[in-house]
Amino acid sequence: MNRETLSSPAARPIQGWPAFYVREAVLDEEIEQALALRRAVFCEEQGIFEGSDRDAIDLHARLLIAAGSQLGSSPSSVLGTVRIHEASPGLWWGSRLAVQRTMRRQAKLGAQLIRLAVCTAHGLGCETFLAHVQVQNVPLFEKLHWRSLDTSLAHGREHHLMQADLAHYPPCHDPLMGFFVDAGVQP
Ligand SMILES: CC(C)(COP(=O)(O)OP(=O)(O)OC[C@H]1O[C@@H](n2cnc3c(N)ncnc32)[C@H](O)[C@@H]1OP(=O)(O)O)[C@@H](O)C(=O)NCCC(=O)NCCS
Repeated sequence: MNRETLSSPAARPIQGWPAFYVREAVLDEEIEQALALRRAVFCEEQGIFEGSDRDAIDLHARLLIAAGSQLGSSPSSVLGTVRIHEASPGLWWGSRLAVQRTMRRQAKLGAQLIRLAVCTAHGLGCETFLAHVQVQNVPLFEKLHWRSLDTSLAHGREHHLMQADLAHYPPCHDPLMGFFVDAGVQP
C-alpha cells in the first residue's frame, strides 16, 4: 500500500482523529453509501438534480471513496466520493466530488479524493484530465495544480472547465488499495 500521510516530519497526532483510506469502492454497501452521499449533496443540499444525480456515465465510471476501512476490512461509513471515466482514448474526466458536510475542511478528504482520481487515471493511460468545477471550489483546485481553461453555466451554476497538471499526479496502479490518510496527524 502507498501509505501517505499529510504530516511533516514534526507532525503531532491529534487525539480522537481517525485514519482514512481513499480507494476504489468495491463492496455493494460502500457503493450504495457513496451514491447516497452524492444524492444528499447534489440533490438535497445543492438542488442541482431532482431525485437522483445518476446518469449514463455511472455505467462505466470508476467510483472512488474516502472511508474509515481498508479494502477487505469490515465496511465503514463512506465520508467522501468522486467518480472518474475515460471519455475518449487518453481523455479522462472527474465528476461528482462530494465530502460529507461535517467532514469538510477537516481531514483533506476532498484533496485526497482528487489526488487518487487523477493518479488513478494517469496510471490507466490518461493524457488529459478535466473537470467542470463549481466556481466556489476553483481556489481548491488551483491549489492542487489545476488550471482554468474556460467558464460555463451548467445546472444554473457557474463552472470552470479545469485541467489537472499530470506532472503533480504520479500514476497510481492500485486504486483498490489507494492511499492511507492519517487525519490524526497535523503538520
Ligand atoms: C469541494 C469539497 C469536496 C472539498 O472537500 P474538503 O474535504 O472540504 O476539502 P479539503 O479539506 O481537502 O480542502 C483542501 C484544501 O482546500 C481548501 N478548500 C476546500 N474547499 C475550498 C473552497 N471551496 N475554496 C477555497 N479553499 C478550499 C481547504 O481549506 C484546504 O486548504 P489547506 O490545504 O490550506 O488546509 C467539499 O467542500 C464538498 O463536498 N462540497 C460540496 C459538493 C461540491 O461542491 N462538489 C464539488 C463540485 S466541483
